Amino acid sequence: NKVVLAYSGGLDTSVIVPWLRENYGCEVVCFTADVGQGVGETEGLEAKAKASGASQLFIKDLREEFVHDFIFPCLRAGAVYERKYLLGTSMARPIIAKAMVDVANEVGADAVSHGCTGKGNDQVRFELTFFALNPKLRVVAPWREWDIRGREDAIEYAKKHNVPVPVTKKSIYSRDRNLWHISHEGDILEDPANEPKKDMFVMTVDPEEAPDTPEYIEIGIEAGLPVSLNGQVLSPATLLEKLNEVGGRHGIGRVDMVENRLVGMKSRGVYETPGGTILTLAVRELEALTLDRETVQVKDGLALKYAELVYAGRWFDPLRESMDAFMEKITATTSGSVTLKLFKGSVTVASRKSPYSLYRQDISSFEEGSGIYNQADAAGFIRLYGLPTRVRAMLREGL
Ligand code: ARG
Ligand code: SIN
Repeated sequence: NKVVLAYSGGLDTSVIVPWLRENYGCEVVCFTADVGQGVGETEGLEAKAKASGASQLFIKDLREEFVHDFIFPCLRAGAVYERKYLLGTSMARPIIAKAMVDVANEVGADAVSHGCTGKGNDQVRFELTFFALNPKLRVVAPWREWDIRGREDAIEYAKKHNVPVPVTKKSIYSRDRNLWHISHEGDILEDPANEPKKDMFVMTVDPEEAPDTPEYIEIGIEAGLPVSLNGQVLSPATLLEKLNEVGGRHGIGRVDMVENRLVGMKSRGVYETPGGTILTLAVRELEALTLDRETVQVKDGLALKYAELVYAGRWFDPLRESMDAFMEKITATTSGSVTLKLFKGSVTVASRKSPYSLYRQDISSFEEGSGIYNQADAAGFIRLYGLPTRVRAMLREGL
């Protein structure tokens, strides 16, 4: 009779600890994943968890694994949800839930619990991962059961159960941060007509206040995955951290969108994904050299499906894994480097190079070339390529 709880140390999860003990009479083991949510968030957490009534707290640094095994596959696939969202929260849930299953197995827990509301996507992502990795685990989602309705209720419940109310100042927004992004939802954002306030942003400066001189950076890419910045080979997490810094400084990667949640409702969110926005463009620009037309078309089609699966919490489906096998194969020659120009909120390509480039200047040049391409061939090509067009026109003209 033990439950593993996804624990952040905030008010909500602090209240869940005594609630689980009271309502399920079980031992509560807390788990916190470090996925790059920011310095300080994992400090002093153990004492806090125990003060809430947990028997122990596990903290796991998942940063490199998160970038290498979850973010990079999505990047390589070109996964973007509803044309805008780079899936920062969607990718983090399956790795956290997977680590919780590991802890549950380790301590012999028979249940897992999370602090997601019953209105969102995150509950689905957690629970599909639990189902996929250990179907025997019972899932407890307090937000779908209890009658705590808001912050006031939660504070009252904490006081009644002698649980210290966390001193962390609660932001007015519902936020989720990791190495890839930060999301903002709630408060004034709930009206899609409201422009976000300037002071809401965390990872990026206002493009209007970004430096007046552009900055050039070079991203090295191997087999569809970024490996270096300005010639320096870096681990996945370090590379992303550095790009967040540079990108943030230039105001790159802000997205404001109304999206369709899996549970059917629309929601409005604002995202900051500085490094991710830079990397997404870099990979895409290199692919323009290394992939042919139909390959890009098929890949883009799959990317859409891939993004939907990840958004919907189906990370551990064989379908996603099979798509990754395709992505890995198809991007085997997407290696080289891309130079990007960062300037006041925009990132544009300045230069790209690949030893596997399918671009041939001797073929494409306006200057007379090597003779591989013979302009006279085009006449026959166009006659046959346009045959259906001619037949339709002939029918219309009675010819
Ligand atoms: N709407 C985004 C998504 O579903 C962000 C969710 C943010 N989650 C949170 N617990 N604040 O991926
Ligand atoms: C939540 O409702 O717990 C956060 C938002 C989401 O999951 O979409």
